[in-house]
Amino acid sequence: MTIAFTTTPNAGALLRMVRRVETGGQTGWLNPFVFVRAVRAFFDGPIVLAGGISDGHALRAAEALGCDLAYMGTKFIATRESMADARYKQMLVDATADDILLTTAFTGLQTNMLRPSIAAAGLDPDNLPARGAIDIGKDIDIGARESRPKRWRDIWSGGHSASGVTGVLAVDDLVAQTIAEYVAASARVRLG
Ligand SMILES: Cc1cc2nc3c(=O)[nH]c(=O)nc-3n(C[C@H](O)[C@H](O)[C@H](O)COP(=O)(O)O)c2cc1C
Repeated sequence: MTIAFTTTPNAGALLRMVRRVETGGQTGWLNPFVFVRAVRAFFDGPIVLAGGISDGHALRAAEALGCDLAYMGTKFIATRESMADARYKQMLVDATADDILLTTAFTGLQTNMLRPSIAAAGLDPDNLPARGAIDIGKDIDIGARESRPKRWRDIWSGGHSASGVTGVLAVDDLVAQTIAEYVAASARVRLG
């Protein structure tokens, strides 16, 4: 689930999503500060920034950069309503940004994965086979588990915004918390 917060009441129908920046899942490679400004240099329509928005302070920063909306993905995995595995949610609570590994090993594309979930599947996150060499059935030590691990079921993804996950909240509470953070950031940083 991805939640989008709007920073302008009339974002309009045309939305350009800025997704070459660092996100959860299959990710980008550009620093959002650089990328949003580069897009703004030639595009004056609505921009949505996805990736690395860990709280309402970051949301305010996206607005300062020139974005109209921002996506939050990883944070909403660790909500009560999310259907993610309870261990996945807890792993996000425990994770810091250093627990996120950028690797092509699982999909062939640059993907941000949770290091502890790779280790739990019996693989060494620091010595993953190159894409092409891995065989999910043979390379993963599943121990006593009855079924083979599946890429998105047992090896979990998350963005650096996992560092902002501090507990498993109800969606309403996470939204209220994010709004409160946004209001606090807005009081500190005035725009216009
Ligand atoms: C487990 C996972 C799976 C995702 N799958 C997709 C996908 O299939 N298509 C897509 O466009 N984005 C996907 N994303 C990216 C999210 O839609 C969102 O842009 C991203 O998570 C935002 O960055 P953040 O997680 O740092 O907040 C995925 C993200 C995660 C964590």
